[in-house]
Amino acid sequence: MIIGAPAEIIEGERRVALTPASAAALAKLGYSCVVQSGAGTGAGITDEAYRAAGVEVLADAAAVWERADVIAKVRPPEPSEVEHARKDQILISFLYPAQNGELLENLRARGVTSLAMDMVPRISRAQKMDALSSMANIAGYRAVIEAGNNFGRFFTGQVTAAGKVPPAKVLVIGAGVAGLAAIGTSTSLGAITFAFDVRPEVAEQIESMGAEFVFLDFEDASQDGAATGGYAAPSSPEFREKQLEKFRELAPEMDIVITTALIPGRDAPVLWTKDMVAAMKPGSVIVDLAAERGGNCELTVADQKVVSENGVTIVGYTDFPSRMATQASTLYGNNIRHMLDDLTPEKNGVPVVNMEDDVIRGATVTHGGEITWPPPPPKVQAIAKAAPKKAAVESAEEKAARELAELRESGRRQTILLAAGAVLTLLVGSVAPVSFMQHFIVFALACFVGFHVIWNVAHALHTPLMAITNAISSIIILGALLQVGSASGIVMFLAAVSILIASVNIFGGFLVTRRMLAMFQKS
Ligand code: NAI
Repeated sequence: MIIGAPAEIIEGERRVALTPASAAALAKLGYSCVVQSGAGTGAGITDEAYRAAGVEVLADAAAVWERADVIAKVRPPEPSEVEHARKDQILISFLYPAQNGELLENLRARGVTSLAMDMVPRISRAQKMDALSSMANIAGYRAVIEAGNNFGRFFTGQVTAAGKVPPAKVLVIGAGVAGLAAIGTSTSLGAITFAFDVRPEVAEQIESMGAEFVFLDFEDASQDGAATGGYAAPSSPEFREKQLEKFRELAPEMDIVITTALIPGRDAPVLWTKDMVAAMKPGSVIVDLAAERGGNCELTVADQKVVSENGVTIVGYTDFPSRMATQASTLYGNNIRHMLDDLTPEKNGVPVVNMEDDVIRGATVTHGGEITWPPPPPKVQAIAKAAPKKAAVESAEEKAARELAELRESGRRQTILLAAGAVLTLLVGSVAPVSFMQHFIVFALACFVGFHVIWNVAHALHTPLMAITNAISSIIILGALLQVGSASGIVMFLAAVSILIASVNIFGGFLVTRRMLAMFQKS
């Protein structure tokens, strides 16, 4: 079948849904690709580049809609584009079904199967198709670059012959995908970066990227960040007050504020008020990524750059990914290719819309003449939700009682084990020679201590622990090598078994370490 990408017709949109690289990957799935002439110009992709990748370049959009079985787009199609659509054609694009009821109805009426890239559930398996994340990543990066462009100073501190320059202070509000990308960019440029999020679990990620988590002294803060499927829940008024109080305290110090706070399906919460802008130094910059949903800053004007009375620049652009069209098209093209990979289980160029597949079901908004939006919650989320419920009903007293009972039970088990060990040692001691008993007791104690040490080590520390076990295995091998030549058959056998087991441990350790290092390797 044929996949086609028409040029985007919304003014200022420079991205394209198909790149030469994604077309090459789609060819391996058994598809041929067509593209409208000039579709890639905004992203720096020429018609020649498409042709070189085996993509047929067609003169106009009508020809692409006519030829293609699957249409790949970036922006939701305009009514003039939907007119070209025909029954059983598949459309893959950002569609924002909650805001585009009429479009959905038009697509349904035409019998189009539409998959909304913005509806791909945020679960690990679907990460490679998560276009919202890839675009938010670009937006976060670009927000810092845009801030730098409007900021009159360096990000990094410098001591030069001409004088000392203090580093810029950047505050990122909302550490989701865009926020984390902004933190990464800001710290790598050398700014002192602070970040805040209502989900306390992101504190570790923020700190691992070199930024400082803005801690809110709020009782039960953990509950305010209670997340559903990776998204935050709305904050309570008390929490919000505390949050604004903290921001008011930070405002005079911050040079750059990047706001990305949003809960999907809601208007952006106002977190940076007029008085906070007024408290900032002249020349400071605010980049409001949530501008499209009303903005996190009270003074943001969507799609514009405004300057406040006290000289603070507030950037409210809503098209950051399009401002980096080459990068955005590459990532979006890849997201679409992965979506088609999932849609083509036989890799034979024939898409199958399997409504049993969580990801495809989540993204499909019209199918078989029906509007299939909203989808049922993904199964994985339903499971994830069920688990904490049990914990939530347990009161503090019940928790203490349960922990006490567990402690008693484990103490009882240990006493029984120790008694059994003592009896066994006595029994062995009654028949075995003294020299054997000395070694046997050391061996038994070593097993006991070793077991307890390893059992109490947190999982996160198992890698350094593995290094130590590797070293111990080497000692075992040395001992076993010395014994393997023994005249006694049993000693020889035991030494050979020791060499085998210790080698498995050593080589296994190397393999695991190699895989772990590969995860951090920059390709
Ligand atoms: P996300 O859902 O991954 O992150 C949002 C973060 O905000 C979450 O970590 C959430 O916990 C946090 N948050 C929610 N309420 C908060 C509050 N009251 N205080 C502090 N933190 C709060 O979303 P993602 O993908 O990072 O996108 C962030 C924003 O960027 C969205 O508004 C999105 O529409 C926007 N965006 C803007 C673009 C542009 O060109 N302007 C392009 C792409 C995304």
